[in-house]
Amino acid sequence: MNILMVAAENGTLPGGKVGGIGDVVRDLPPALAATGASIQVVMPGYQVFSKLEQAELVGHLDVPFGGTVETVTLVKIDTGNGVDLWIIDSPLLAPQGAGRVYCHDPDSQPFATDATKFALFSAAVCELLLHRHFGVLDFVHLHDWHAAFVAMLLRYHSRYQAERTQRLVYTIHNLALQGIRPVDGNPSALKTWFPDFGAVDHQIMDLRYPDCINPVRAAINLCDTIHTVSPSYILEIQEPTNEKLGFYGGEGLDRDLRAAAAEDRLVGVLNGCDYADTPKKIPSWKRMLAVAEQAVTAWSLAEAADVHTLALSRIAKWKSQPSPTCVLTSVGRATDQKLRILREGLTPQTSSLAQILNQLPPDAKLIMTGSGDAAYETFLFETAKTHDNFLFLRGYSEALGTILYAGGDLFLMPSSFEPCGISQLLAMRAGQPVVAHAVGGLRDTIIDNETGFLFNGANPRAQSLELVGTVAYAMELFYMNPSRYRLIREAASKVRFEWSKIAKQYRQSIYV
Ligand code: GLC
Repeated sequence: MNILMVAAENGTLPGGKVGGIGDVVRDLPPALAATGASIQVVMPGYQVFSKLEQAELVGHLDVPFGGTVETVTLVKIDTGNGVDLWIIDSPLLAPQGAGRVYCHDPDSQPFATDATKFALFSAAVCELLLHRHFGVLDFVHLHDWHAAFVAMLLRYHSRYQAERTQRLVYTIHNLALQGIRPVDGNPSALKTWFPDFGAVDHQIMDLRYPDCINPVRAAINLCDTIHTVSPSYILEIQEPTNEKLGFYGGEGLDRDLRAAAAEDRLVGVLNGCDYADTPKKIPSWKRMLAVAEQAVTAWSLAEAADVHTLALSRIAKWKSQPSPTCVLTSVGRATDQKLRILREGLTPQTSSLAQILNQLPPDAKLIMTGSGDAAYETFLFETAKTHDNFLFLRGYSEALGTILYAGGDLFLMPSSFEPCGISQLLAMRAGQPVVAHAVGGLRDTIIDNETGFLFNGANPRAQSLELVGTVAYAMELFYMNPSRYRLIREAASKVRFEWSKIAKQYRQSIYV
């Protein structure tokens, strides 16, 4: 069986992982290769990965794009894990701004320039298919909105239509991102990228924004199998979104998803985790602070100087104090998905985050890391200013993440929705129980009161109250019933979602 995966990121490469897709595209292909499948992966180079030392130049390729011809570079990287990795690169894919390898557009203008990059990347993938570059394929597997353009081009663009011979699989990693763009009249629009695209069918149009295409809707309507990364998320996305209730649901695509389900095209297979990598021992508090300090020092060369200055002074103060008896941690992007419930409340002083911090015992501390939307970063910064038991480390560092997963006693993951989630698995494998909202993959990977703590709530206000109560409950167990807490830690560390098993599920339900 020959499979080509098309994705925006790949954690196999240094700096190649931005979010959970990078983990999946790193771990799933070798697990599938171990079942006897032949796997190739193709991703954009962003003018970074094609320049790696191990990159081998294969050649150049002319791609009709934007009314002209873009010449892209094709590079191959030997990943050493039985998977061929191809990189497509062009100056048009270059990063903009420090620390941002691939998505750059501000929240106010999502996809305004990023979509052009992924449209070019997708056209280059189709061009390679046209040239039979990947050999005879059984499946082309597209990951999230970045690769969704491929489905549209193979089905409707006259140049590539005949290439739709393989079965198409589309994985939804996060339905909130859909790459919606105008049909024309904009430098970043379907007809600007592909002037000879042909008639625009209703199946690829967005249902909420007039005269816009929606590549994710297109992929859902056009692919043979639609996969998402947990069984619970697959049920949630078939329901209409209700913003007021904090229910993200189908994000405008619930009807298309229900149709796909009725046609038996919708499959939920959970992501896995790499257990070979489990940290061997619990790091000391001193070591955790040292790693945090290193990370902040590296970032403080770049943006957000005031946030970093506060973090460094807090670390310095904590160094002079006795070690805390309980360390709470959280690692994740500063976005609505991850932080809405923590921010819920009328002011930063009454948010659920503030309430959690106010009720912590005097020798417990919370460390959070992540970056993302400005409004959420500001919220965390404002909260850190007024709570000296809270350290906000704005940025992303793999070393820091690793130490927080390994060193914490209670991990917070109150996402409003969570297609699968990897952070909870990384915390659990290190024996750190997780407080999580009972949605999507969190619900499918954590057993309340056995391997972690789940909360519910019919709307964001109720969810925020439940979160505060659940953290209080976990803290009570931690301090008052340590033997029970130890059992939960142990049970969490024994939970297994092995990629080897998951690869078999893919062979049974996705690549069929
Ligand atoms: C996205 C989702 C996350 C999922 C990951 C990998 O980042 O938000 O829940 O685990 O993709 O599938």
